[in-house]
Amino acid sequence: MMNNFKFQNKTSIRFGKDRLEAELHDAIAQFGNNVLLVFGSGSIKKSGLYDRVMSLLSDMNVVELSEVSPNPKISSVRKGQTLVKNNDIDVILAVGGGSVIDAAKVIASSKFYDADPWELVVDSAKRQTIEQLPLVDILTLSATGTEMNTGSVISNPDTHQKLGTYGPKTPAVSFLDPQLTYSVSKWQTAAGSIDIFSHLTEQYFDNGANDVTSGIMEGLYRAVIKNAPIALAEPDNYDARATLMWAATMSLNGLTSVGNQNGWTVHPIEHELSAYYDITHGVGLGIMTPRWMKHALSDETLPRFAQFGRQVWGLTGTDKEVAQLAIQETFNWIKSLEVPTTLPEVGIIDDTYFQNMAESAVMVGYLNHEAYVTLQAADVVHLFEEA
Ligand code: NZQ
Ligand code: ZN
Repeated sequence: MMNNFKFQNKTSIRFGKDRLEAELHDAIAQFGNNVLLVFGSGSIKKSGLYDRVMSLLSDMNVVELSEVSPNPKISSVRKGQTLVKNNDIDVILAVGGGSVIDAAKVIASSKFYDADPWELVVDSAKRQTIEQLPLVDILTLSATGTEMNTGSVISNPDTHQKLGTYGPKTPAVSFLDPQLTYSVSKWQTAAGSIDIFSHLTEQYFDNGANDVTSGIMEGLYRAVIKNAPIALAEPDNYDARATLMWAATMSLNGLTSVGNQNGWTVHPIEHELSAYYDITHGVGLGIMTPRWMKHALSDETLPRFAQFGRQVWGLTGTDKEVAQLAIQETFNWIKSLEVPTTLPEVGIIDDTYFQNMAESAVMVGYLNHEAYVTLQAADVVHLFEEA
């Protein structure tokens, strides 16, 4: 049944080639002159984007926070909090992938919080009650959808936690120039594409799914499946990069979750892998997704898997044949992107933490009561063992 919903998204999307020169300055200046520039470990310096941005903002006060790592750590947010408070920052400019933008969003909230910002990650409800600085971003990697949603995922290595947190605002302005993703490595291109596929899967296999959003998602699935291999083979293929970029945004900006029950499964499980082993998010999803699908397929879920097989993979046959083949096609597509498909291949060679990770995934992700197919910790341990 379609649930009641409210849908609103205020992010101004500036999609396409070379818009920064004409638009970046004013997009930022509308909020003030004191800017915190947040970026990662050097890809934007290598590509020349850093110099381009700095020259466009030459009349502004720009303070920098660099070295935000993949699976961004709370230590970066803490540094950012000090900078936004001490420099009277008006607006944050995040230039990078999901990790940079995610960290920037929590830093944007932390200006209005006088204690450790990890408390804002653990308790999103608290974040909703405080202000958040406006955020402008220049996205350089197609994957997370963070450029048009309120979410962030922040890691705390001291506690082995990687948690989602939601602020009151989506980014104010997001620049999406597919050309900026030409330099993304094969590994990250594959991981990003699998992340998009997984966001769709988390929302498609839902007990409240409706025909409107299902149809939108089936189109998005097909776009990602077709274009990820093209982008891998031809990194500067504009149309493939553009399709992945817009598919990433559209798959997690709220549009495809309206009316749904939104019990996600593989993400909470993957976040445990990243929390304990710091692996690439999309690669972890690629390892776990086909295993989860096999586990989730039952008499009750068969019609949905059959629809997935027919509408997404173009398969024909009986429901059972199509459902099973669809899971195999999913595995084959992930493998064709040249990423690992087992845990040992990403360095996870023993089961030391499986029980802890499984219990945490069930608790954080409400897997035993909100998931599409509910899971107990023992089921999650079993999925880890199979992987
Ligand atoms: O740090 P730099 O030097 O920029 O290098 C990055 C990083 O090493 C590099 N990169 C980014 N753009 C590039 C580039 N290299 C060359 N050319 C470019 N144009 O790619 C590496 C990975 O970057 P990262 O930002 O970590 O990747 P991604 O965008 O996949 O973000 C992953 C993070 O987002 C979280 C994940 O858990 C993970 O922590 N997620 C956030 C979500 C959200 N906010 O809604 C939802 C997702 O499900 C996800 O959980
Ligand atoms: Zn994801």
